[in-house]
Amino acid sequence: MKSGAAGVLDELAGRAAEALRKARHVCVLTGAGISAESGIPTFRDALTGLWAKFSPEELATPEAFERDPETVWSWYEWRRQLVRQAQPNAGHFALAELARRVPCLTLVTQNVDGLHQRAGSPGVLEYHGNILRDRCTVEQIVAERSEDTRTGLPRCAACGGLLRPDVVWFGEAIPAGPMTVAAAAAEDCDVFLSVGTSSLVYPAAGLAEVALRRRATVIEINPNATDLSPHADLVLAGPSGQILPALLRQTG
Ligand code: APR
Repeated sequence: MKSGAAGVLDELAGRAAEALRKARHVCVLTGAGISAESGIPTFRDALTGLWAKFSPEELATPEAFERDPETVWSWYEWRRQLVRQAQPNAGHFALAELARRVPCLTLVTQNVDGLHQRAGSPGVLEYHGNILRDRCTVEQIVAERSEDTRTGLPRCAACGGLLRPDVVWFGEAIPAGPMTVAAAAAEDCDVFLSVGTSSLVYPAAGLAEVALRRRATVIEINPNATDLSPHADLVLAGPSGQILPALLRQTG
């Protein structure tokens, strides 16, 4: 016999598993919450220690980088360390396995940590780039670092231009490729899974809205309520590292 809350969650997970079993095309959108159990803090978590006095909105912008590239780079070096030390968790692995079980799965992530790829998910659409890559601010292409470190800031090996992390900052455009494919997937899918995202940052948050309009079954996995929760067909309230593997087991 299960307690009330656990019983309700089981019943919702059963309905979600049934939708996944019947699905033709599953579109998944993940956010920082899926990597929380890998030890990478989410954006809405207060920044800790050294970075407690900054907010991401003050550091992850082109204006902040222009004003103070040293500080922005130190923040990114700190976050790169966290990402390099992190391992994919059970939620990342469950999504990689889900892709093998359904006819078609499109995985869109707002995360820049590469953990889905390391868990074996194919064709991941990186909506906000990848923190482990450098991009040249002059040539606007992914670039290697110059060996010459005398200038303090990382420079492009080819042209000497200032490098920046290859991520999308507040106010910047989403890369065209991932944006187009993700939009088409949200239109086409019959099941949309929103995992570990606050559903606050657009255009990513708009993908669930497209899926809702197209009458896909929208399933949210998040321990906390979001702006999407009242509109979702099913809300599985809990950590994705536990909910996703349980859901996968139920799909059989
Ligand atoms: N499992 C699932 N969800 C979780 C977990 C967990 N273990 N822990 C926390 N969450 C949820 C939180 O409840 C919150 O709703 O993850 C969400 C994280 O929200 P954000 O920090 O806002 O992350 P995200 O939605 O990915 O942010 C979007 O904003 O800062 C920019 O570009 C950055 O990609 C980022 C974007």
